[in-house]
Formats: sequence, structure tokens, C-alpha cells
Amino acid sequence: MTEPNAERRVVVGGQTAPASALASALGGQAGTPRLVVADHAGRSGFLKRLLEGDAPTACGVVAVAAGAAFDGDLRRQLFVLAGLGIQPLAIAITGLGEGDAGRFAASSEAVRAALADLGAPMAIVPVAAGGAAVPTWHYGADLTATLRGSLGSGPLRLAVVGAATLGGQPAYRARVLSGSVAAGEGLVFSPSNRLAKVTAVTGEGESVVLHLDADPGVGAGEIASHEGSPPVETDVFIGHMVWLAAGGPVVERTYTLRRGNGDVAVRIQSVDSAAGEAIKATFRTGSLIALDPFERYPATGWFRLYDGAALAACGTMGMRGYADQRFLITVRATNIVRVEHAVSTELRARRNGHRSGVLWMTGLSGSGKSTISIEVEKRLFEKGYQVYVLDGDNVRHGLNSNLGFSPEDRAENIRRVGEVAALFARAGVIVLTAFISPYRSDRDRARAAFREGFHEIYVHADLETCEARDPKGLYKKARKGEIKDFTGISAPYEAPENPELGIDTGRYGVEDSVRMVVDYIDRHFALRVAA
Ligand code: ADX
Repeated sequence: MTEPNAERRVVVGGQTAPASALASALGGQAGTPRLVVADHAGRSGFLKRLLEGDAPTACGVVAVAAGAAFDGDLRRQLFVLAGLGIQPLAIAITGLGEGDAGRFAASSEAVRAALADLGAPMAIVPVAAGGAAVPTWHYGADLTATLRGSLGSGPLRLAVVGAATLGGQPAYRARVLSGSVAAGEGLVFSPSNRLAKVTAVTGEGESVVLHLDADPGVGAGEIASHEGSPPVETDVFIGHMVWLAAGGPVVERTYTLRRGNGDVAVRIQSVDSAAGEAIKATFRTGSLIALDPFERYPATGWFRLYDGAALAACGTMGMRGYADQRFLITVRATNIVRVEHAVSTELRARRNGHRSGVLWMTGLSGSGKSTISIEVEKRLFEKGYQVYVLDGDNVRHGLNSNLGFSPEDRAENIRRVGEVAALFARAGVIVLTAFISPYRSDRDRARAAFREGFHEIYVHADLETCEARDPKGLYKKARKGEIKDFTGISAPYEAPENPELGIDTGRYGVEDSVRMVVDYIDRHFALRVAA
């Protein structure tokens, strides 16, 4: 149903001038789709030609002469191709002869190493000198087969264009971004997470009308996919970009993210690395959006970034270190009705002589969260407060013993603790939580669980300080690579933007830090002066 166009343009970039070699490597075979080498431009003109793109482009090939260094310029060309949604991408190692299996292996290795952080599944294919047949030592697909093989493939991604009521039956106009859809299949719409079943598909090519069994009530820009292979849902992602606008990326500025399913406002949270025009930045959106990480589904894992009306950058989306939040917001329980308590939280507060609430401590491992909270618990108890500490290392022995430290597991860890803390708070207790809780989105969800009395405390000490303390010897292990996804070393930590209280434990000792929290609690929670 989503057959690629019969003729597709192949964009060729590269180091040397391999257009003719690649043309014969690609052009020799007939069939559908036909791959046409449309242009090869030298280094300087490459980007310009692409951006001015006069014809639909399907494939991209970047040529690297065997043995040559995979330099920044080639990297940049690949970013540009990926960022413009040109898929599939192949890297052609050119100029190989019959005795060159070893040279090909060495070049492939160098290319893979250079692209490791892009995480992109790009095919690396040998091209014989002069564009002749594939060397006999190569048993994999040749360039043509590689490019053809992945055209039109990928999971189903439909961009909802709008509702179209047809004879009273719910229907939606949609654009096919990848994959194919048929009657009888179940769809999930993202990010609304709504479900519907396809009763019929009409229309042709990229524009279709989906007839559905029930109206999911979704708007333009939602992505429909099969239930088993949905996109990620997130409000944070990594952008690997080629920066095109004058002046670099601006942290905190809002840009427009443009993809196959439309536009969304994004804010640059941080610029994580910048090597010339190659920029890696962390982006944040106001609410959950659906996206495909480029390393998983390259056909939909790219974007263009606009600053006002001007194209600022193009690049690919990554989720390394961040969680798919779909499962955190998916509600599976049905037919449930809330029961009202006869004893309100207010009544409990009056009897206790203090309000209840959640003091959410966040910070790196070794920053002092547990030490401070255990001591604060003791002091508050002595003063007559109802108080309890939920600590990461303890809760992970019981309630959360089935969770590890992957981004998804951490997110679920914090979701559960946020809900448990809210239950304690409703029971009248002051809850101190001591979890790294590295993600802003998770902490915001914990806040939403007890919005009326949630206080975020940033227990801050810089990485060097925490690493020097290393009370459990975990940093040492993490540096040796014995613990993966270790916060601060190989996994991200997003510091709070507006914590209610910040404690710099690099500057203040335990006693001072404890006093700050106790004073804070006396000020915000006491209803009558405690003993
Ligand atoms: S969180 O990131 O999910 O909030 P949590 O606070 O529950 O983490 O647990 C952190 C504790 O687990 C750390 O104090 C440390 O003792 C231990 N730990 C084990 N593996 C890791 C890891 N990969 N990253 C961070 N802490 C880890």
C-alpha cells in the first residue's frame, strides 16, 4: 500500500569524487524502485544542494575511500542526510579490489567507531574499484540491494491529519510515514494513548482515510501505529544536529520541531556537546510527544528545527539515557470508582498538630540524601512529628525489588515511590524521600501525586565531591565499567530547576544541612509549636 515511488533520487556525498563509481554500482540493475544517482556535489556545495532539494530524495550514500580517515566533514554529511529524512543511508567504502577484504574490515571498523555515538544503523557496503561488481570476498548485500531492501520498510506510522466523519462512522484522514495498515488491525494513537480498530482503509499512496470502530477523539499530529510497535512517549529527548543558523543553539530558547506529523514547540534544556556545527543537545517539550529514536526507526527518527520561520538545524532524535514514559501513563484498570474517607487529611493534621506532606530529596549518589533524611527523621520524631523516611536502597529491597537502573525502571521506581509518599501524606505523615530521582519528568509526576504539600529539596554536591566520598565504593566500580547506567558517570542527572529548598552539602556539613531541613519543616508544617 505504501509502495515507494518508482523512481527515487540517490544523494551521494563523499570525500573523493566517487559519483561515477557509485553510479555504475547503483545504476546497472533495473527494477522498482529505480535508484537514480541525481547528483554529487563537492564538499562545499553538498549541503546547499540538499537544502534546495529540487526532487524527492529517497536514499543517501556517503562514500569513503578505503583507508581514508572518516573525518568531521563526512560525519556532518551523514547528519545532514539523516536530518533531512533521507533513508536508507549507506556508507560505501570505495576503491576495493579482490585482495582487499582486510582493508574493508579495517575501514568499516573505523567508520563504526566514528559513528558510535550516533547509534545509527547505517549499512556499510564495499564498492569495487571502478564501480565494477562487488568483490567476491563480500557475501553481504551489494549497494543496490542494501538501498532497495529497506525502502518502505519500518513499523506503521500514520500521521493524523484530521477527523473525517463519513456516514456517521468515525474516520480520520492520515498520512503514511512508514509501514502499511489493513482492515481488522488494532491501532494505538500517540501521545493520547487511545485505541481503535480499523474497519476499512480507503485512499491511496501516502494519503489514506482510516475507518474506525470507535472514535478515539484524537487531533491532528497524533501518530497511529500498531499496538505492538508504538513510538516512544516522552517530554525529553536528545537531538544530534547539524546547526545551520548563524549563532549557535540557545539554551532555554523555544524552537519549533518539525517532523512528518507536524510541528511542536521545544525548548533546549542543555547543549551537551558542540564540535563545530555538530551539536548534541537535550530538548524538552511542554507535554508528552510521540517520537521514534533514530537508532531504532530511522525513517521517522529525524527532524528539522526552526527558529521562527528560519531553518536552524536538522538532525536525529535519540533517547539514550532517557525513559519511554508510555507505560507510566497507561491506565489499565477499568470499572473502578473512588471511595471517600470519613477521616480527612485535614482532621489528621489537626490531631497531629502539623500538616502532612512530601519532602522530596533529589541528588547524586553520595550527595547526602540518606544521611540527612535519617537524621531529620530522628529530630522530627523527637519533636513529636509523625514522620517517615522512604529511602532508595531500602525500597528497592521490597516494593521495588523487581526494578533495576534502566531509564524505564528508574522512572517506574519513582512513579511508585511518588504514589506511596502521597498515600503516607494523606495519612497525615511527613514523608522524607531519598532517591536519586534523576529525571525531571518523574519528579514532576511525584509532585502531581500530592500537589498540596510537595517540597522538592535539591541535595547538591558536585560529582567530584560525591565521587571522592564514594561511601559504597560504587563510583569506583562505575569508572571501571563494572556498573552500567551509573548516574553522573554513564547515566544522566537532571538537576531541579526551581527546588523549594537547595542544600549544598559540598559547603555545609551534616549538622548544618539537617538543621536547614528541620527549620524548613517547622516553618512550613507546624500548626502549633512542637515540643
Ligand atoms: S533512582 O535513580 O531510581 O532514583 P535510587 O535512589 O532508587 O535510584 O537508588 C540509588 C542507589 O542505588 C544508589 O545510592 C546506589 O547505592 C545504588 N545503585 C546501584 N546501581 C546504581 C546505578 N547504576 N546508578 C545509581 N545508583 C545505583
